[in-house]
Amino acid sequence: MIPEEFQIGTPIHQKEYLVNGELKVWKGEVTEVFSTISSTETYAPTLVGSIPTMGEAEALDALDAALGAYAKGQGVWPTMRVKDRIECMETFVKKMEVKRDEVVKLLMWEIGKSLPDSQKEFDRTVEYIYDTIEDYKDLDRNAAKFQKSSGVYAHIRRGPLGVVLCLGPYNYPLNETFALLIPAIIMGNTAVFKPAKHGVLLITPLLEAFQSSFPKGVINVLFGRGRTVAAPIMKTGKIDVLALIGNSKSANALQDQHPKSNRLRLVLGLEAKNPAIVLPDADLDLTVEECLAGTLSFNGQRCTALKVIYVHEEIREEFIKRFTKRVDALKFGNPWDDGVKLTPLPEPGKPAYIQELIDDAKEKGAKILNKKGGQHSENYVWPAVLYPVSKDMRVYNEEQFGPVIPILSFKDIEEPLDDMAASNYGQQVSLFGKDVYALAPLIDTLANLVCRVNLNSSCQRGPDVYPFTGRKDSAQATLSVHDALRSFSIRTFVAFKDNDLNNDTIEQLLETKLSNFISTDYIL
Ligand code: G3H
Repeated sequence: MIPEEFQIGTPIHQKEYLVNGELKVWKGEVTEVFSTISSTETYAPTLVGSIPTMGEAEALDALDAALGAYAKGQGVWPTMRVKDRIECMETFVKKMEVKRDEVVKLLMWEIGKSLPDSQKEFDRTVEYIYDTIEDYKDLDRNAAKFQKSSGVYAHIRRGPLGVVLCLGPYNYPLNETFALLIPAIIMGNTAVFKPAKHGVLLITPLLEAFQSSFPKGVINVLFGRGRTVAAPIMKTGKIDVLALIGNSKSANALQDQHPKSNRLRLVLGLEAKNPAIVLPDADLDLTVEECLAGTLSFNGQRCTALKVIYVHEEIREEFIKRFTKRVDALKFGNPWDDGVKLTPLPEPGKPAYIQELIDDAKEKGAKILNKKGGQHSENYVWPAVLYPVSKDMRVYNEEQFGPVIPILSFKDIEEPLDDMAASNYGQQVSLFGKDVYALAPLIDTLANLVCRVNLNSSCQRGPDVYPFTGRKDSAQATLSVHDALRSFSIRTFVAFKDNDLNNDTIEQLLETKLSNFISTDYIL
């Protein structure tokens, strides 16, 4: 029986979408939104609601609205004083905060995220917005000055890039999407935003806040398939930034549709195959716990998840013994169940996909080492710990993004290093060991293969003040509270030769406060 406070109640049939400052009512086709969580004793997916199935015409309307709000750089928003843009963002975040319970409940139903993790996703996003505001004030304060070199003065700021197409992932439908959208907007860009394929309805309680906090056309929210709405927008060649967290194939397909590749800036967080490397002297208790969290938090549906484990052969047996025991001791249940660690998979086809990976690995010589590994229910497949995994297996090559854990053993450290160098990915690594003589050269090498070396710690994105990026097919540009403001803007400045005419003009501009760009005002 689902506790009353978590019951979904009447399905939410979302009819409104936000374009050009108006919450328009959709009268066309809709797509039903189902949760893989059952609300009845005999298993059946639950209808959570429905969303508009928009098409090309609506997508282009939204693009027009964003272009109109940018107005070739003359729009109210891109030319607004930084202080005023910050005020709009503050209004928005305050309105957002009161929607916490609604959004958290939908996070649980739509993507199966546990209650504590759903609350964390919401709170982390709110904190991200406040931190972004503070960082932007700092950025602006540092720009509130003139500098002079070789007789030329310069007043250098960061300006917006234009219109951003923003697409987020289903595993962090709020946090990661907002970690793109918020810095993009605050820097003066305008945006068209389409929520992820799962975790869509949870955006709808925030539509009114978007509408009432920003000038019209600054944020436009569309619903529908990426293929139907994002592709036509890209084809126009009018997008200045593609901001996407998701898969490199979709990112490549969208980029290829843009006819002016040099106009298009990319802010991408893509897939990864982060390895754990367990050295012979690793502290096994700690390593097992970190690998457990790294591989299975949110069922492994994180781009930062540990997706392959390399264990030195000297400790392989002991590691596997302890690790498999811990995997099988995890609690599976609905997101609101106490102490739950494994939860229903939101993609109906995911258990079958994970099974394919398991079958392929077994055919090629791997075994499932844990008792419960591969056990199925309607919306789950128990994490299978697979060993020995070889490079011809799909589970070695594909980003599983789900509950299955491939293990390889190694004798020579060059083996995992060679694999990482050959991999298409380069986001993070977890390195477990104590001996500084072994660790030092490894850290120096690993830092050149990925972008974050986690020492005796699982891989993760947070804290959000740290750079989040990757090499090769794992990312383009860097995100963090600080870096995202830079990724969504460009350095642009006013320069003038030191002479009476110019100096007098600048003084007048400063005194009259007619320009929002030329200003030495200090935001507190
Ligand atoms: O899906 C990838 C996320 O950026 C992971 O973030 O490490 O905080 O779970 P996280």
